[in-house]
Amino acid sequence: MQFSKRKVLKNINLTVEEGSVTAIVGPSGSGKTTLLRTLNLLQTPSEGSVEVAGVQVEANKLNKAVTRQIRAQSTMVFQQFNLFKNLTALENVMSPLIYNKVATFDEAKAQALKVLRDFDLEKIADQYPVTLSGGQQQRVSIARAIVSKPKVVLFDEPTSALDPEMVSGVLNAIAKLAKQHITMVIVTHEIEFARQIADQAIFVEDGEILAQGPANEILSSTGSGRIADFVNSLENRGQPETANVVEGHTPTNQHRFKVISNRQSVATGIQANQ
Ligand SMILES: Nc1ncnc2c1ncn2[C@@H]1O[C@H](COP(=O)(O)OP(=O)(O)OP(=O)(O)O)[C@@H](O)[C@H]1O
Ligand SMILES: [Mg+2]
Repeated sequence: MQFSKRKVLKNINLTVEEGSVTAIVGPSGSGKTTLLRTLNLLQTPSEGSVEVAGVQVEANKLNKAVTRQIRAQSTMVFQQFNLFKNLTALENVMSPLIYNKVATFDEAKAQALKVLRDFDLEKIADQYPVTLSGGQQQRVSIARAIVSKPKVVLFDEPTSALDPEMVSGVLNAIAKLAKQHITMVIVTHEIEFARQIADQAIFVEDGEILAQGPANEILSSTGSGRIADFVNSLENRGQPETANVVEGHTPTNQHRFKVISNRQSVATGIQANQ
């Protein structure tokens, strides 16, 4: 992945197993957002290939049709919520179904209300984003991301714009999705949360994956070295409450560079080489 002549991602070779949670951590400017955006082609890679849920594309063979196919498999949740300000919470959650013409108005409304209920947001369904707390807005945006049942949900620091007291509600909403085995890739600085919820973690620095493996090993604060130092620096800044977060599922055995999904039809492989 390259911006003008500068390579921002290099030698990335990452595979995410269906139904698993991957946490991406690393210092500011290391390429985490760019990596996430490359996974659903919001950013086009200059070399390599991306494969999501069986749809594979080479960087030099990108076209609108395949881009659309890849994007249809995944949705992204942003740091700044990105809700439509002129739509209510309910209308926001209905919007992907209506926009993509996959449901009638009544069906979309019923599905959106169900997801809002799951996230305990039914009471605010008719409110506009400006009248909601940051935590509520982020939960609405998560509801909007999953209403169309994507194969993969990509989160870019979903709690970093929130007041501390709002963080655990959003983390719990994400934990609920993990329980449903929705494939997720999450850029986060919430180390304890990532340890609990993620199967694998990757540490990115200077556009490269410095380490990749089971989350509780990669994100361990004991020991020495670059990653432990980084993890400790995050933990020492004072972590918000993450109680009530569900137990993460058992980390799966990941090979270092390539893991093939055990269910091929919805394999979620991601590669972006430079
Ligand atoms: N549109 C762009 N044009 C040029 N350079 C960019 C662009 N977007 C990002 N970059 C550069 O690419 C590098 C990686 O940026 P990226 O936003 O992916 O980092 P990050 O790890 O997400 O950082 P942060 O933790 O601060 O969000 C940075 O050096 C950044 O300046
Ligand atoms: Mg970023």
